[in-house]
Amino acid sequence: MDFAAELERLKEGQLYRTTRVIAGGARPWLWYQGRRYLNLSSSNYLGLSDHPKVVEAAVASLYDEGFNAGGSCLITGHGPAHAALEAAIARHQGTERSLVYAAGYQTNLGVLSALATREAVIFSDALNHASLIDAARLSRARVVVYRHGDPNHLEELLRAEGGDSPRLIVTDGVFSMDGDVAPLADLLALAERYQALLVVDDAHGLGVLGERGAGLAEHFGLLGRIPVAVGTMSKALGVQGGFVAARAQVIDYLINRSRAFIFSSGLVAPVARAALAAVEVVQAEGWRRQRVQALAARLRRGLGAQGWQLQPTAVEGVPIVALVVGEAERALQLMERLREEGIWAAAIRPPTVPPGTSRLRLALMATHEDDAIEWALEVFGRIRSEWAHGEGR
Ligand SMILES: Cc1ncc(COP(=O)(O)O)c(C=O)c1O
Repeated sequence: MDFAAELERLKEGQLYRTTRVIAGGARPWLWYQGRRYLNLSSSNYLGLSDHPKVVEAAVASLYDEGFNAGGSCLITGHGPAHAALEAAIARHQGTERSLVYAAGYQTNLGVLSALATREAVIFSDALNHASLIDAARLSRARVVVYRHGDPNHLEELLRAEGGDSPRLIVTDGVFSMDGDVAPLADLLALAERYQALLVVDDAHGLGVLGERGAGLAEHFGLLGRIPVAVGTMSKALGVQGGFVAARAQVIDYLINRSRAFIFSSGLVAPVARAALAAVEVVQAEGWRRQRVQALAARLRRGLGAQGWQLQPTAVEGVPIVALVVGEAERALQLMERLREEGIWAAAIRPPTVPPGTSRLRLALMATHEDDAIEWALEVFGRIRSEWAHGEGR
């Protein structure tokens, strides 16, 4: 492999990436190289990463239980913290049981590769998250991609494909890079009509949408009806880890067949306790949900009025606003221009999104101040008029 040539190719295409040392990346204001920036890139949507109850739960557990449970969950690693967390998630999701993994990415690998056998067909939304795409590959099932959010196209494909093979329909709930949502009721109806198993990864709806913060399914009145509901604790819960919630038989099957669960150490106990506290805070402090939703709606309306192209969404309160600019170079220019002004917003480029749809992914937090969002809008407005007068070229 010619690493130098490959890296050069990425640089030429404006697709080269680096890590940066950022302090306070989950807070409304972050620090980079001695300067403070308004953070419009964090998935800590409810501001729970440093909530006193979450932090105290982790610290108490650390003293009490230590870090590591000594093995994978089927050996010694499934302790009282894991049992309590799994029970709380199942209650919150309205399912019989749940199973916890060390990361959301790992959850998708573990769930799909176990549920989709080599003979199965996976019907996958065109804009699904990378972890679902990788998971489908790992399963070795045949993958059929349907147009993003399009149940009519999905039905055509379900009719045409699959025969007697087991079928799965797999989708993000809230789409991570677009901020739009899957048409869950339609997908559920199709899954029932065509005897397919519906798997929904609602990493970005959890905590933020629904009366009790259970996510997009709750928002649509479908709580507990999604046969396989995946989520992550690393976004609105402000912690780390992933879960799958389903009926008891599905969970028992995964415990026996999910290699990413069987052959990897589980969450460390302090993280499981912190996540448990976060699930409780999500339900008790509904104001956080209302606040992040209101801020997202405000930002969306303000940017729309300035003439920026935004990905539309059926649910205004989704905490992700995708501002599409087209070419990767343009997205980087806008990111740099915002940085000059003191705003941190991530440019998202291929392969994360399709070519020609590079964008800034803006994310809101309940802990953002109103004034900060108004100031951000003023900055966006100024840049918009610079660009309109050709100064951004
Ligand atoms: C839809 C979706 N699923 C899964 C993941 C992975 O979750 P985690 O960061 O917990 O591995 C992410 C985010 O990174 C995501 O956006």
